[in-house]
Amino acid sequence: MNEKQHLAFVTGTSSGIGLSMAQSLVQNQWRVCGLSRRPAALEAERYTHLQIDLADLENLPAQILENWQDILIQQPWHTVALVNNAALIGALRWMHQTDASHLGRIFAINAAAPAYLMGWLAKSTESSQNIRVVNISSGAAHTPFPGLGDYSATKAALRLSGQTLAKEFELEGRTADQAAVFSYEPGVVDTEMQDQARATSAEDFPAHHTFVDFHEKGILVSPDMVIKDVLAFLESQPEAHFCESRFQKE
Ligand SMILES: NC(=O)c1ccc[n+]([C@@H]2O[C@H](COP(=O)([O-])OP(=O)(O)OC[C@H]3O[C@@H](n4cnc5c(N)ncnc54)[C@H](OP(=O)(O)O)[C@@H]3O)[C@@H](O)[C@H]2O)c1
Repeated sequence: MNEKQHLAFVTGTSSGIGLSMAQSLVQNQWRVCGLSRRPAALEAERYTHLQIDLADLENLPAQILENWQDILIQQPWHTVALVNNAALIGALRWMHQTDASHLGRIFAINAAAPAYLMGWLAKSTESSQNIRVVNISSGAAHTPFPGLGDYSATKAALRLSGQTLAKEFELEGRTADQAAVFSYEPGVVDTEMQDQARATSAEDFPAHHTFVDFHEKGILVSPDMVIKDVLAFLESQPEAHFCESRFQKE
């Protein structure tokens, strides 16, 4: 990969899957712009970090314009990628304990900000540039887990907004190898998100034991393992505008 030709915007690069993704993309000669609330966890010439809270939707357009737009237009990138990875696991509470302001925050981070970023990328790229969008999804986007109602709803919304973008690419006459969207379920990964699920009591979080079992049975995999499918997609010539898959252990 030629550094001058490939640019990736990756959200949630301060830990877990996003950090591993940013590190691998940099190693593969991509120029990478990452973001999170915490400072950068990665230092590299090809990496630029933006410290923001994705829940602040009001300021998101201005932040993106100020920090990412220039990088996007500064040279004729061959491929421009967006990896919507940042997310909150949710309140880890029964639906009857739902808090309205928390719902606003989790939908902002997990669904609204990613949808905004997809739209921004679609409008800011030239038709000659290849676009690759990855939305990090979850089994919870399809399957109900007691205690994950808020998180599940945001992941279902993210998946569908990605599918919609893919349909719009098609309608605009872009071919799949020019513009494609990948919804990827990483399975169960050993990150801070899993730590939080195990740390929440069974009394508050009805799926607590499921998450403790993932850990005790040794099912959790490392972020480095699950990012391989994403990297393969980003560097591929997709045959469909939308595709999705789930991590499978070899
Ligand atoms: N771990 C799993 O088993 C699993 C399973 C299925 C799907 N996933 C998905 O995988 C993705 C990555 O999660 P992970 O497991 O790697 O968890 P993680 O280590 O907790 O990473 C989450 C990332 O999102 C960022 N983030 C959270 N809230 C943010 C906000 N308001 N503004 C900006 N950035 C924010 C965090 O950075 P800051 O805290 O610094 O803001 C962090 O970099 C998520 O989409 C998650 O839903 C994970």
